[in-house]
Formats: sequence, C-alpha cells, structure tokens
Amino acid sequence: MLSEIKSIFEPVKIGKYIAKNKIFMAPMSRYRAQEGGINPDITIEYYKQRASAGLIVAESTQINDGAGGIDCPGIYNETQAKSWKKVTDAVHKEGGLIFLQLWHAGRASHPSVLPEGRQVVAPSAIASTQEVMTYDGMQVPTMPHALSLSEITEIRSNFATASKYALEAGFDGVEIHAAGGFLIDSFLQDHSNKREDQYGGSLENRFRFLKGILDDSVAIWGNDRVGIKLSPISPYNDMGKGNVLETFTYVYNHLNTYNLAFLEVNEVMPFTELSEENKNINKTLRSLYKGTYIANGGFNPETAAKRIDQGTASAISFGRPFIANPDLPERFKQDAPLNELDMNTFYGGNYKGYTDYPFLKN
Ligand SMILES: Cc1cc2nc3c(=O)[nH]c(=O)nc-3n(C[C@H](O)[C@H](O)[C@H](O)COP(=O)(O)O)c2cc1C
Repeated sequence: MLSEIKSIFEPVKIGKYIAKNKIFMAPMSRYRAQEGGINPDITIEYYKQRASAGLIVAESTQINDGAGGIDCPGIYNETQAKSWKKVTDAVHKEGGLIFLQLWHAGRASHPSVLPEGRQVVAPSAIASTQEVMTYDGMQVPTMPHALSLSEITEIRSNFATASKYALEAGFDGVEIHAAGGFLIDSFLQDHSNKREDQYGGSLENRFRFLKGILDDSVAIWGNDRVGIKLSPISPYNDMGKGNVLETFTYVYNHLNTYNLAFLEVNEVMPFTELSEENKNINKTLRSLYKGTYIANGGFNPETAAKRIDQGTASAISFGRPFIANPDLPERFKQDAPLNELDMNTFYGGNYKGYTDYPFLKN
C-alpha cells in the first residue's frame, strides 16, 4: 500500500458505529427490483459482495407506492422489509455495515411509472425541465400536483413508517435522501418551492418538510443512526438554480443541531466539471458543517486521502467505482487496476453488470 493513502484504510466513527475503513459505498439505484418493490436474490449477492466497504448506503428505496421509481425497491410493507432482511443479514455476516436510503422522487417521476390513482407530486406546480426516466426511455416531465397540507402530512408519516420498516429489516441506520432534486430537495430550494403556506417562502418554512422527516427518524433510530444526503450545487433534475448558498447555509446550520450519524454530500455530479463559483460554494458550506462529513463525487484513492488528511472529510463515498469493483478497498490497497465500468448495465436487467464484476484473483 502506498503510504500517502494510508488514512483511507483506518477505521472511523460513524454515529453509533465504527466503520472499518473510510471507503464507503454511495447509494445507487440499479432498477432490478421485482413487482411490488421486492429485491431479487441477486441483490443479496450484490450487496454481500461489497461488504468490505466501511459503510454501504443502499440505494434509493421508495417510502410509499407513489414514490415514483422504476423497478426500485420499497420499504413500506412487511414483504419488502423481509426481502431487505436477507440483504442486511448477508452484509452483516461479512462484517459490513449497511444503511438504507429513504426516498420519494417528487417531480422527478412520470405518471406512466405510477400506479393507478397516484400522481406526480411536488411542493409547487412547477415542472422540472429535465427529462425523467420511464419504461419507454427518457421523457419530458409532466406538471406535478402541488401537495396539499394533508398530503404533506401523509408523506411525512410514510417516511416514518418506512424508517420503522428499515429497523425491522435489520439495517444499521437510515439515510434521508434530500439530494438530487427529488421531493425533499425540491422543498428546500427556492426555485422549485413557491408555496405560500408554512412549507414555502422563508428558509425556515422550506426546511420544515425535511425537519419533520428527520425528527421522526431520529425518534425511531436515535440521532446516531440517521444520516442525510444533500447535493447543494448539483444541476441534476433541474436544481441548483436559486439562492443555493443562502438555502444550504441555513440547512447546514440547522443540521448541526442534530448531531446526525453523518452528512453525505455529492459535491460534483457524475460526468460534470465544477465551476469556480460552485467550488467556492462547496468550500464555504463544508466549513459550516460541524459533524461527521462524507464527501462524494469523482474521488480516487489519492484525492480521498487528501481530503481525509486535510480534515475536510471523515470518509469518502464512492459510487461508480463500487459498481464495477466489489472489492474496491482491496484494489486500492494493492494499487491494483480497476475493472472497466459498463454504463449500459447501470439500470435494469439481471446479474450482468451487477454481480458478475470479477474480484481480484488471489
Ligand atoms: C447508476 C447510478 C445510480 C445512482 N443512484 C443514486 C441513488 O439511488 N441515490 C443517490 O443518492 N444517488 C444516486 N447516485 C449518485 C451516487 O450516489 C453518487 O452521488 C455519484 O455517482 C457520484 O459519486 P461517484 O463519482 O463516486 O460515482 C447514482 C449514481 C449512479 C452512477
């Protein structure tokens, strides 16, 4: 092992737990769930193979049947919890830690992927300008339905129920998905939230939806087993357009009061370059956060170690490298070549590009 990257292999405290290294697996949807949001058996194998990560954050998982994903797993009933239990058992058996990402797509969904009686929802009737994934490929988004107050309360309670099911499913904690332009993010950011009630307008009001969801999960799990993901400067799903710095300064300052297990931040979206302005926003926001911070986006072992050694990240989450390399920490340790990533098998399909990436030969 190269001595310059030694720090990424050292254990780190993540809330209630000690992660065995600082090489975490970022949450990634793979669209392989079966009817009813149930995991196929290959999902057990997929996560088991990656249990050498210090922490796995399992993919976006629907908190109700209208959460809007394509072939994404769910965590809102007993059968789904049981299907996740097989995954968590397998990961624990290998000595891994695994959190579940709780998710509602909000306006980044499409009527064609929703069950009868469900509609695309958002804080305000403002459609995203970015195409959304459907069973017939990428499509122009439709106008979302602006949630009523009672519908907001219902979704909050769906998040709480999902959080309870995650506990039953044997996860070590949950990560609230407040990134990527999905429902929670679209409440936080001003250009997608034009509400005039207690959920819109002021920073306090835009934070209220997330706050309720966080409070409920913290009551279920304790603050040291709840994490959150944010992506303040990401343009994904038509976001990052309003007063990002002001919004997320408020959000970070309030998250500081929770002392959560971690804050995971996607600092740069895949396949994009950061502008100087966004680099500065990232830096300023980073300096505000006082708790355990997981940096994410485009890292390699050297850049990861640099952030750890600087003290600006507690751990680094790797997305794409973990798709193609189930034994990523070992490869980093041996300075071994990485498997080539096949983008055609990111989403949907079967074991191909999922559980068949080879491990290093002994
Ligand atoms: C195939 C794929 C699926 C993803 N699905 C999710 C997801 O379900 N939840 C999420 O928060 N981020 C998701 N992301 C983003 C990753 O978690 C991560 O933020 C991003 O890939 C940047 O990390 P990387 O540069 O190490 O890949 C996904 C990324 C990829 C490539």
